[in-house]
Amino acid sequence: MTTAVQLKTRELKPGFGAEILDVDLARADAETLAGVVDTFHRHGAILLRGQDMMPQQLVDFVALFGEPEDHTQKQFTLPGHPKVFVLSNREVDGKPIGAHNDGVGWHTDYSYKAKPVMCTMLYAVEVPDEGSDTLLADGCAAWNALSPERQKELDGLRLHHSYQHFMATREFGRQELSEELKRDNPDVEHPLIRTHPADGRKALWPSTGTVTEVVGMENPKGLELVDELVEFMTSEPFVFRHKWQVGDILMWDNRCTLHTGTLYDDTKYFRTMHRLWAKGDAPY
Ligand code: SIN
Repeated sequence: MTTAVQLKTRELKPGFGAEILDVDLARADAETLAGVVDTFHRHGAILLRGQDMMPQQLVDFVALFGEPEDHTQKQFTLPGHPKVFVLSNREVDGKPIGAHNDGVGWHTDYSYKAKPVMCTMLYAVEVPDEGSDTLLADGCAAWNALSPERQKELDGLRLHHSYQHFMATREFGRQELSEELKRDNPDVEHPLIRTHPADGRKALWPSTGTVTEVVGMENPKGLELVDELVEFMTSEPFVFRHKWQVGDILMWDNRCTLHTGTLYDDTKYFRTMHRLWAKGDAPY
């Protein structure tokens, strides 16, 4: 068994996330990489700056966290690397090389699947001088901040998630789904309060975009509740804002966070990110 080394870290925000210092992922030994994985699991999110990673190295790295997951919109994966999804506003020969503004709006990745992805990794290839920050919201801190009475009211509620609804109503990248995409992405239900399998800690786990209702609650009451909880969880005390530099790797645990991209001046700047996912379990 590989022993994880203790790495030099500093918190991204008090009680949430860790920046790992002085690690060059492309050249790190097995013990250091085990330390990176261990830090991720203890902190909910990690940041490593100044990395220089080829696509296959990114795939090998994310595989340390779980089996790399495929992507739904296959036209935006990196040629020759189906596990690497490209987020970009660049066009080559008049064709977009990636999905533009794909992650804008608070959400948790793959929430429309029975087994949403465990973690998301973004690697910054090119970044604007301003804007395009990625924000992470800590669902455990938000849950712990609720009164016991409120926790009791919410625990046990379930949310209905629909990829078809999401793609028909989203602000960016709206799309009529092919029959194949409809068939491969049936609606699912997930708990509003998610339990972390590592240690049983609970997280508020709403989302926007894919959620159509709170199961058993009439709309608009159900969706108003979801909006209220997203607003609470994404308020300043629970949010880390990441300002990108080229070579940054930011990873977060989707089982206890929400995240959103933010807009930037896409007439002035290019932004290209490589996104990878590791498979997850059925939420409970
Ligand atoms: C995402 O939600 O997957 C990407 C977020 C971002 O582009 O900052």
